[in-house]
Amino acid sequence: MPFSIRQVGPCLAGEVDGIDLTKPLAAEDIAAIHAGMDRYAVLIFHDQKFTDEQQLAFTQSLGPIELAIGTSLRGAQDHRLPTTFADVSNLDRDNKPFARDDRRRLFAIGNRLWHSDSSFKVVPAKYSLLHARSIPSKGGNTEFADMRTAYTALDQETKDLIEPLICEHSQMFSRAKLGFTDFTPEERERFKPVRQRLVRVHPRTGRKSLYLSSHAGTILGWPDPEAKALLMDLTEAATQREFVYSHKWRVGDLVMWDNRCLVHYAIHDHGDEPRLLHRITVLGEIPV
Ligand SMILES: [Fe+2]
Repeated sequence: MPFSIRQVGPCLAGEVDGIDLTKPLAAEDIAAIHAGMDRYAVLIFHDQKFTDEQQLAFTQSLGPIELAIGTSLRGAQDHRLPTTFADVSNLDRDNKPFARDDRRRLFAIGNRLWHSDSSFKVVPAKYSLLHARSIPSKGGNTEFADMRTAYTALDQETKDLIEPLICEHSQMFSRAKLGFTDFTPEERERFKPVRQRLVRVHPRTGRKSLYLSSHAGTILGWPDPEAKALLMDLTEAATQREFVYSHKWRVGDLVMWDNRCLVHYAIHDHGDEPRLLHRITVLGEIPV
């Protein structure tokens, strides 16, 4: 292998040493990164001094990327970053924090719930790559929970129950959980639910995992309260501490994760201190 990977925490995260991602990589390095992702689902690369262009070039070497168009409440004239980046900051296009009651800010608070990126899209995300540009003096960790081991830990009765189930995912469901339901007719149309299987199979490893996300709001053919209660129970069981890796950020960290087999969220315990991370997302290959 061209570089080394050391497991950190439970077996879902690996810290990579001996690679500079700002330079073009050999095919053998790319293959080793995919293999590392298959094993761990989260890879951490410290001290990567990326420009936006270098982060984009590295991401594109892993596969086609998703564009951040129409997925937030930012208008077309309202983007702070190019649409190749998902803006996960609380800043407007002039780099000023949104007002407390700004709808764009309130909508983005949905990222504080366990989710899988873009599970609300017909073809959801494969990898997300987040690079730390500035971080708060303390806190602001991102937590990851392994949906493969969470699935394995279920009893057989539950596995049989959920195997055929199909959920609907929408950003309106995740926001509704936080009491944000004020959507315009245009937004309701844009955020209309998509269907995803509740149990998915990883296309490379063949491992089954739970496909949970705060965006999941209904189960086809199930009464709503019963569906929501099951999704809540599964999420609670799947995010117990034994399945979780909590990443403490350092400036220059590039953390990439596989949305197909884990959920994540950002802890908000750093008050108003800036936390600036740039995310690019690799497109998934097929609907789930
Ligand atoms: Fe996310």
